[in-house]
Parts: sequence; C-alpha cells; structure tokens
Amino acid sequence: MDRAALEATAHALAAPGKGILAADESNPTMGKRLSQIGMPNEERLRREFRETLFTTSEMENYISGVILFDETLRQSASNNRSMVEILQSKGVIPGIKVDGGAHSMDSAPDEKLTTGLDGLAERCTEYYTLGARFDKWRAVITISDNLPSAACVQANADALADYARISQGAGLVPIIEPEVLMDGTHSIARCYEVSEWTLNTVYAALADRGVHLPGTLLKPSMVNSASDADNRADVEKVASETLRCLKATAPAEVPGIMFLSGGQSETEATAHLSAMNAMGGGPWELSFSYGRALQQSALYAWGGDSANCTTAQAAFLHRAQLNGAARYGSYTAAMEAEA
Ligand code: 13P
Repeated sequence: MDRAALEATAHALAAPGKGILAADESNPTMGKRLSQIGMPNEERLRREFRETLFTTSEMENYISGVILFDETLRQSASNNRSMVEILQSKGVIPGIKVDGGAHSMDSAPDEKLTTGLDGLAERCTEYYTLGARFDKWRAVITISDNLPSAACVQANADALADYARISQGAGLVPIIEPEVLMDGTHSIARCYEVSEWTLNTVYAALADRGVHLPGTLLKPSMVNSASDADNRADVEKVASETLRCLKATAPAEVPGIMFLSGGQSETEATAHLSAMNAMGGGPWELSFSYGRALQQSALYAWGGDSANCTTAQAAFLHRAQLNGAARYGSYTAAMEAEA
C-alpha cells in the first residue's frame, strides 16, 4: 500500500474551498433523473448531461473530484476526448462507484446490504489503470420503530471495511458512505442514536481490517429529522447535532468528512454545511460530496436540450460556488439570488 499517495489524494479531494461532485448515478437511477425532465434513459443523454457539467468553465475552483459510474469512466465526450481526460485536464480527480447496489437482506427483507465484493480487487486495479484515484461504496441504513437491526448495521460495516481495505491495496482512496436514510417520521434524536451506532460500528470494522484512515474519506448523512417528521429541526440544530455525532465517532486521522445530500434540497444542503463550518471545532475538513444538491437546478435548466447547455452550466457553477462558500462557513441565503 502506497500510504503517501493515498494521503495526498485524500487531502487533494478535501482541499479548502472544494468538494466532490457525485455524478455516479447508476443507469437505472439516471433514468429516474431523466424521467423527471420528461426524457428517455438513453446513453447519449446521460453523456450530454455529464459532459455539460464536466466542461463547465471554472468548476475546478470548487470541485476537487467527480465520482463516475462505470459507463462514464469508459465514455468519450462529443469531441472524442474521454470524460476522464476532460476532468484530468482541469486538475479534477476522477473517482468511481464500485459497489453493486443495496439489496434486500435474506435475514431481514425490510433492510438492505450492499454487495459487490466479488472480483472487487480486479475491478479496482482496472479502474486505477483507467485513471480513477478514489472510489465509493454506499451502504444504506433504514430507521423505523424497530430498525435498524444489529445484523444490518454490522454486515454493512463489515462490507464497507472489506471494500476500504481492497481499494487501498489497489491505490484508490475509499470513500466510506454509510447513509442513514431520512425516510420516515423519526426525530433528530433517533437519527443521532442510529448515526452514532452506525459510525462506531464502521470505525471498529475499519480498525479490525487495518485500514489506513489518513488515506480514507468519510461520506456520512447529516443528523437530521426524518423527511416526514413533525417539528423538523432547524439549520443550527442539524449542524450542531451532526458535529456532536462526528466528534463522538470519526477519528481525527480521517482527513475529510464529505457529506451526502440525501434528499435535502439544494439550499438546505448548502446551509447545513455552511453552519457546520461556521461552528467548526473538529479535526477534519467538513466538505461535500453532493449528487442531487449540486445537479438538480442544472438538470432542469438543461431539460434534455443541448441548446440549454450554457444555462445548465451557469446553474451548476452557481451551486458549486455556494457550496465552496459553505466550506468557509460564509454562505448566506442572499447569495442564492446572485446567479
Ligand atoms: P446525494 O447527494 O444525492 O445523496 O448523492 C450522493 C451520493 O453519492 C449517494 O450515494
């Protein structure tokens, strides 16, 4: 394991003022995004939207890395340059989603276990050759009155730790993503409890496998009220509870906490990140690895029509700039109007 190279990549991804664009929707998930704008799930549309984002001028000032899906990592853009070359030419680090998705558990049909460890070492080696320098594995934890089960939390933590060890062996910085879902009606206190339990279980499994933490990044969900909860917590409460949970669980050797947006609106995700950076006090960089919260406005501005690419790029750059400001705790709602 080349520890110095892994640490350098992790630090570059968590560089001040920057974060990650998660553009690694699987083809079925990208199909759902395209159907929101009334478009079919065709390769040429998936390519055009992603090419539009990646060729946005100055996005590299705010975006350190982009997570790709397998199709995009191997894809050429309209000018015959590969998507990987487009990113590399801007100093943006290509990454790759390597998990095989979350599937219902045999022992607990209401819960999911992320699969994809079979053949992972070989795939990681190939992805490194194709230009990827980091990867991502997403586990999902569901909250209900009697969930998650200990079996689900442990099995997902074990898989994340095996994935992280294999990735580092192939030279890829693993993004460790245990997402506690916002679906349901639970309180922020219940989300705190499950998030703390999950993160402690994940870090115990990582220690057990000898994963080199300075060469990893954590991608957690924020500690928040469920999407259908009564009296949802405000921005300050989400920020302070998320920081309290991370201080209790995430080791100081982890260079960066790269939050997912997980169904928050674009403005909520930015406001929460900014509030956390304004509060500060943790040993790690607090950054973003947003999918929907960086792409939603751009997707609608594009609408599947290449005539709208410039407008879509402006929408994407604006979100990237605002999240860049949130990295310093200096985002304000008034900045939303300055498109
Ligand atoms: P969202 O920010 O849309 O949750 O996507 C991030 C991600 O990579 C999910 O795996």
